[in-house]
Amino acid sequence: MADDDYNYKKAYLREKAARDELESLLESKTRELFCANQELKEKLTILKNQQTNLMQTDKMATLGTLSAGVAHEINNPLAYVMSNVESIKFYKPTLITLMQVTKQFIGKSISTSELEALLIKLDEESNINFILDDLDELLDDTHEGLERIAAIVDNLLNFARPRNNMFTASDITLSLNGAIKLLANQLKTCDVECYKDEIPLSYCNLSAINQVFVNLLLNAKYACDLVEGQQGKIIIKLFSDQENIYVEVMDNGCGMDAQTVNQIFEPFYTTKPVGKGTGMGMAIVYNVLKEHNGMIEVQSKLNEGTLMRCIIPITTMPEPSLNNQL
Ligand SMILES: Nc1ncnc2c1ncn2[C@@H]1O[C@H](COP(=O)(O)OP(=O)(O)OP(=O)(O)O)[C@@H](O)[C@H]1O
Ligand SMILES: [Mg+2]
Repeated sequence: MADDDYNYKKAYLREKAARDELESLLESKTRELFCANQELKEKLTILKNQQTNLMQTDKMATLGTLSAGVAHEINNPLAYVMSNVESIKFYKPTLITLMQVTKQFIGKSISTSELEALLIKLDEESNINFILDDLDELLDDTHEGLERIAAIVDNLLNFARPRNNMFTASDITLSLNGAIKLLANQLKTCDVECYKDEIPLSYCNLSAINQVFVNLLLNAKYACDLVEGQQGKIIIKLFSDQENIYVEVMDNGCGMDAQTVNQIFEPFYTTKPVGKGTGMGMAIVYNVLKEHNGMIEVQSKLNEGTLMRCIIPITTMPEPSLNNQL
C-alpha cells in the first residue's frame, strides 16, 4: 500500500512537473505570439501608410502627364491669341489717328477737303479697309481661342475635382468622356473609336474612376506608339447588364507576353525606360476597381494588342464598404 502511495505521489509529481513545464511553455509561446501579432499590426500600419503614399505618388504622376498634355493643348490657341493681340496693337495708332481726324472735323477745326485729304493719306499709309476687315477676323479668332482655353481649363477642373471625392450616385459616362477630352491631344496619334451605351447611375468615387480611364488610355496610346509603321487604334466600349457596368479599352499596340501580364498590377512594375514611367498606373487601376468591388480582366497578345475590361458592379444604394477610402 505504502509503495502504491509512493508511486502515486511520484506519478503525480511527474505529471505536475510536466504540466508546469507545459504551462510555462504555453505562456512563453503566447507571449511570443502576442509580440509577433503586435509587430504584424505595426507592419500593417506602415504598409497601409506606404500604400497611401504610393497612391498619392501615382496621382502626382498622372497629374504630371496630364499637365504636359493640357499645357500643350492650351499653347496652340494661346499662341494665336497672342499674335492677334499683337496685330491689334499694331493697328491701334491708325485707329487713334482716324478718331482724332474725325473729332477735328466734328469740332470744325478742319474743313471737309482737309478731312478728305487726311483720310486719303491715312488710307494710303495703312489701308484702313484692310484693317477694318482684319479687325473683325482677329477679334473673332481671339474670341474663339479664348473660348477654347476656357473649355480646356473647365475640363481640367471638372476632372480634377468632381463635386466631391466621395462615393455618390454617378454616371461613369461622364468620367469616360472627361478622360477622353482631357487626353484628346495625346490620343491624336491614334484612331479612337468610342461606343457608349446608356448606363445606369451607380455609387462610385468618380475622381478615382477618372484615374482608371486616364491610366488605361495612356497605356493603350503608349503601346500603340511603340509599333512603328502601323496606325494606332484604340476602341473604347461602355455598356452594362443587370449587374455590372463594363468599360473596355482595346488597342492594337505592342501587346504583352504572359510574364508582363502576370506582373502588370505590381506596384512599380514598368517596361518603360528608366525615368519614363512610375509603373504605378495599373496598380492604382486595380486598387480603385477593388474599392468599387469590381475587377479588371486583361487579354493580351504580344505584337497584336491588348484588351482591358473593367467590371464595376452597379450599386444603387450606398454600401457601408463603399466609403471614402481614397
Ligand atoms: N495596353 C497595354 N499594352 C501593352 N502593355 C501594357 C499595356 N498596359 C500596360 N502595359 C504594360 O504594363 C506595364 C505597367 O503599366 P503601368 O501603367 O502600371 O505602368 P507604366 O505605364 O509603365 O508607367 P506609368 O503608368 O507610370 O506611366 C507597362 O510598363 C507595360 O509594359
Ligand atoms: Mg501606365
